[in-house]
Amino acid sequence: MSVILLLLGILSSTGVVEFTGAQFQSVGVCYGGKGNNLPKMQAVVDLYKSNRIDKIRLYHPDEGALQALRGSNIEVILGVPNDQLQSLINVANATNWVNKYVKAYSQNVKFKYIAVGNEIHPGDSLAGSVLPALENIQNAISAANLQCQVKVSTAIDTTLLGYSYPPNDGVFSSSASSYIRPIVNFLARNGAPLLANVYPYFAYVNNPQNIALDYALFTKQGNNVVGYQNLFDAMLDSVYAALEKVGAPNVTVVVSESGWPSEGGAVAATVQNAGTYYRNLISHAKGGTPKRPNGPIEIYLYAMFDENQKQGQEIQQHFGLFRLDKSPVPTFEIMRPNPKFKLNF
Ligand SMILES: *[C@@H]1O[C@H](CO)[C@@H](O)[C@H](O)[C@H]1NC(C)=O
Ligand SMILES: *[C@@H]1O[C@H](CO)[C@@H](O)[C@H](O)[C@H]1NC(C)=O
Repeated sequence: MSVILLLLGILSSTGVVEFTGAQFQSVGVCYGGKGNNLPKMQAVVDLYKSNRIDKIRLYHPDEGALQALRGSNIEVILGVPNDQLQSLINVANATNWVNKYVKAYSQNVKFKYIAVGNEIHPGDSLAGSVLPALENIQNAISAANLQCQVKVSTAIDTTLLGYSYPPNDGVFSSSASSYIRPIVNFLARNGAPLLANVYPYFAYVNNPQNIALDYALFTKQGNNVVGYQNLFDAMLDSVYAALEKVGAPNVTVVVSESGWPSEGGAVAATVQNAGTYYRNLISHAKGGTPKRPNGPIEIYLYAMFDENQKQGQEIQQHFGLFRLDKSPVPTFEIMRPNPKFKLNF
């Protein structure tokens, strides 16, 4: 009941999110897949299409998903899961991987990026496999003559930063620097972006004494002392500052995950906050950050569905825009610019 009252209040007090050709920026949505009764993949793809979501991030080379995406015109980030990294330091295995999951579908599936590993940290046993796997996948993509269309990268999280504030002081920690430097040099050589999972939610909940909720939700009025209106921009620019310090000022950052939980019994995990965050993030994607003012910013929301088998804290299961039965989470209603329209990403 309170949720419904809240919704009415928000829908009537906010205007319609602008949706004009010139400003159009489509935001992608990650398909996490960690649910035990998710809709069939064709229904998932149809749900993307009916909501005009034209970018998806997949974490596994799921052939059912790739089959369903044929002809859909949806752009795809295809993940190499961490548990396959090691086998791909073998050239033949990497070639087989690309031939089986990318080349075989590339006639009518729009692959945009291959994310080789997700959130690998410098101390992980797999850390040494990332660069060789990147190189092998890149070579196989080139051999398939897909190198112009498909960029090969890896997805990091922001714990690789040693300092992140003020954003201009952003720097990779010393252990992360030696890990990431050759990787971002590789990205720069190939004109590929770095993928980064950026969660103002976690930054806020880990440091609520120093970070205000409105700063995390894009609702703060005016800039803070170092010129930032919102935490998302500050986090993204700290990654850019860190990239500059490892000699990769020209590598673009694609935000390969960002989200806010709508429930789960933790601080600030509410439908209203999640809806506010997603709505403002989508609108914000059209513009740039103080350090990289020429937007748009390419962003993938995490995630399409609440995922009842996601490990960790309860909130981890509640980042979805939709429930497993395909009904929208109320978050989605708050995001929706106008009840008469479909979601205009
Ligand atoms: C190639 O991949 C297979 C299957 O994952 C694995 O068993 C094998 O060890 C890999 N080969 C090398 C040399 O890594
Ligand atoms: C970055 O791009 C600019 C403009 O294209 C170029 O002049 C500069 O050399 C590049 N820097 C690096 C480190 O590649």
